Amino acid sequence: MSVLPSRKAEVPQAPPGVMVIFGASGDLAKRKLFPALYHLMTDGLLSKHFRIIVVERRDRDAAAYRDYIDTTARPFISKDISADLWQELLQRIHYLNGDLNDADTYKRMSTMLDEIESSHHTGGNCLFYLATPPDTFGEIATQLHAAGLATEHGDQWRHLVVEKPFGRDLASARALNNTLQAAFHEDQIYRIDHYLGKETVQNILMYRFANSTVEPIWNHRYIDHMQITVAESIGVESRGGYYDQTGALRDMVPNHLLALLSTVTMEPANSLDGNAVRDEQAKILRAIQPILPEQVLTQVVRGQYGESTLTSGKTAIAYRDEERVAPDSATETFVAMKLLIDSWRWAGVPFYLRTGKRMPGRYTEIVVQFKQAPNMMFRDSLLRREQVPPNTLVLRIQPNEGIGMSFNAKVPSPIPQISPVEMDFSYSDYFGDGPTTGYETLLYECMNSDPTLFKRADVIETGWELVEPILDVWHALPPRNFPNYAAGTWGPRAAEDLIAQDGRAWRPCKVCSID
Ligand code: BG6
Repeated sequence: MSVLPSRKAEVPQAPPGVMVIFGASGDLAKRKLFPALYHLMTDGLLSKHFRIIVVERRDRDAAAYRDYIDTTARPFISKDISADLWQELLQRIHYLNGDLNDADTYKRMSTMLDEIESSHHTGGNCLFYLATPPDTFGEIATQLHAAGLATEHGDQWRHLVVEKPFGRDLASARALNNTLQAAFHEDQIYRIDHYLGKETVQNILMYRFANSTVEPIWNHRYIDHMQITVAESIGVESRGGYYDQTGALRDMVPNHLLALLSTVTMEPANSLDGNAVRDEQAKILRAIQPILPEQVLTQVVRGQYGESTLTSGKTAIAYRDEERVAPDSATETFVAMKLLIDSWRWAGVPFYLRTGKRMPGRYTEIVVQFKQAPNMMFRDSLLRREQVPPNTLVLRIQPNEGIGMSFNAKVPSPIPQISPVEMDFSYSDYFGDGPTTGYETLLYECMNSDPTLFKRADVIETGWELVEPILDVWHALPPRNFPNYAAGTWGPRAAEDLIAQDGRAWRPCKVCSID
């Protein structure tokens, strides 16, 4: 490729403001938030009137925090780091020592914000980022409100950013939404699903709606089925305590997998405006056929990994032997399901979803399999219909982000022979490898008061409504065969059967080699 199109066209700088980070000594701050802020800065997108307050209940000061984040965040910055710029970012940090449950912390925060506003011209804009455990969300939002910090005066904005998990079932998600909405207006609440920050997920909308050749065939007349796979090769790592209470279904389906499903199936919105897109996403999620309790056993598969020797020769321990996991745990580390959508566009088209830990590779992709061509023309030739594979389109979310299309071509030969061939678009070939944690766009959009990529309360609740019957049935009928797949394999046999009973198969992974 001789000339690469610029990755960033003319993008305006984000407005001034203060980002208040709660839980600033956690993983998120060092892995994602500071690297993302740095990347925004190197791209010239951070206002020079942007400041950061870190809130901690520790006895250190701004200088000590700067030293801490300097060492811990550096490895997650994916560009050659410019010492000057990085130092400039660190110098924007202010430090607030305080207990999250103590009203005095918020009083001092308010004073600090006033001082920063007058000395650094931050315009009164504020982004409160809760990088704290979910059981603190309600308390922090309520305290911010009580201290008057949620109130927006004039043109200024006050945004509350929270990350999943948004509850652990429908009732707790509703309760959390109610608490947050009592403190902030819904349009001030930015709920992050980091999948929506991935460039390739955003590209699905561009691919579908900016190309006139795509939409006419994006429906039940041409599409046989879709598959969404979110596979991870890692186990639960150090998160056994959280994961054992959560499981693959809660951890991945109502949020990330449904975000992918709604993006690939929604109707076109009439603008890219936050609510226009989110209305369409909410509409399609509401159109998913509810899974009735009696369908859970036939439409949903759960699995848990057992010990195994990987192809690399390494031994992977069983889930039940992971740290802070119960030795008789019934928590699933794998889930697969079949969904149908009650809409004109998707009538009769099955959507197969699967996600799991300790799979043979880390990859996320959406496979769109088109209907087989009728092939009447080949009836009398040597070719049989089953030798002509259907076309597939693969939206690769990670790794090797891009889009691949397979179609059939004639093999050069005197006899008619057909072979599937591939056309491939790879992001990095066209746009280069950009530094991205996925949080750059999310933080930038939040500062620009654009909620398109954030989850609305109703979307969260619809996701939980869908998985609730599964949780109930699984709770009532604990699994009797766990562990039921070996680490480093594609999950339990039942996941293959789920799709095979419809005469279909999961697309083999092209990038997998377990390590
Ligand atoms: C998180 C889940 O939301 O997403 C993790 O809690 C999972 O369990 C992660 O590993 C996957 O995200 P990604 O971006 O690595 O695919």
